[in-house]
Amino acid sequence: MSNSRIGRRDFLKSAGGLAALSCLPVSMVKLAFADSRKNLTFAHISDSHIQHIKGTQFVRNWDRGLIRAVAETNMLVPKPDFVVFGGDLAQLGKKEELDHGAEMLSKLNYKVYPVMGEHDYYLDLGEYWSKLYGPHYYSWDHKGVHFITLNSILTFDKWTYERWPTDMQRMVEMAGLDNPNGSPFMVGKKQREWLQKDLEKVKKNRPVVVFSHSPIQKIYKGWNFWTEDAEEVQDLLKPFDDVTVIYGHVHQIQYNQIGNISFSAVMATAWPWPYPQSYAQAGSHLPELTVPMNRADPFFERDATGWQLINVETGRVAMKFNLYDNTNRTVAFNQKTGQPEDSMYQNPARRILPQTHY
Ligand SMILES: [Fe+2]
Ligand SMILES: [Fe+2]
Repeated sequence: MSNSRIGRRDFLKSAGGLAALSCLPVSMVKLAFADSRKNLTFAHISDSHIQHIKGTQFVRNWDRGLIRAVAETNMLVPKPDFVVFGGDLAQLGKKEELDHGAEMLSKLNYKVYPVMGEHDYYLDLGEYWSKLYGPHYYSWDHKGVHFITLNSILTFDKWTYERWPTDMQRMVEMAGLDNPNGSPFMVGKKQREWLQKDLEKVKKNRPVVVFSHSPIQKIYKGWNFWTEDAEEVQDLLKPFDDVTVIYGHVHQIQYNQIGNISFSAVMATAWPWPYPQSYAQAGSHLPELTVPMNRADPFFERDATGWQLINVETGRVAMKFNLYDNTNRTVAFNQKTGQPEDSMYQNPARRILPQTHY
């Protein structure tokens, strides 16, 4: 779609620079550039939930979370290639919230690839978001990796267009995490057809990284940690050797492997959700491999929030979770076992026991 344009412009910039330095014929530069994933890193910031109170007032705590992520990302050395914002920029999709969030994101010294969250979408169905950021789903190529951004928070047309008496009620119902009136999310047929076409031009041995807001897997429907057509999307990704899906929405570290597809969630800058297993009626609904974070300490308001630095040099993903008020964690794909693993805590004997609160 439109972002083949972005890819080409980025390529031309790099190719132009290299060609000027080395006087290589352009075709050779292109080859060298396309096959190199060296130093392919990017930052991922998500779920800032910027919330308008009145006039020029916003919830300070959520503002601080995003401002800190932007400042820390700007200080990275070496610089990441770009930043992904994983959705839920706003709390209730209001223009004031999207504008305020976009202004904070505009301080990033990098190109930003945005993902649509349900909190951004359901007030005006993404209309104002589009004015700021363009298409709701798109793809681009960078250093030999094919990147795809999906809008995974769509739902039935009947629900979208007919169910709610006002746009704000639709927004509030669809944004209620454990509200059965406001689920399920889905990618939908139109976008799946676009994805199928987009992937037709991608070689099977080329690494593919997909960004979504809700997980493209079914974790726990009761909290909408769920995408209704997850299997159909996974089927489209099955033919590729190296596939990673990175998602927001769940506000916690999760990771998993289903067939050839690695899954990794990102933390929010606003607040952490509890793990579904803490919900007494739910049983355990964590992805099989996930070692939970040592849960948030309520005395540290930023505990269990943060942002991610992601390395794709191997074609698979190594996630470095930068926690604001806790020990950083790394979850990286292990080529030997063929699954993502926590560098410290995957072995059950090394895990920290859950905190006890009195
Ligand atoms: Fe969120
Ligand atoms: Fe969300």
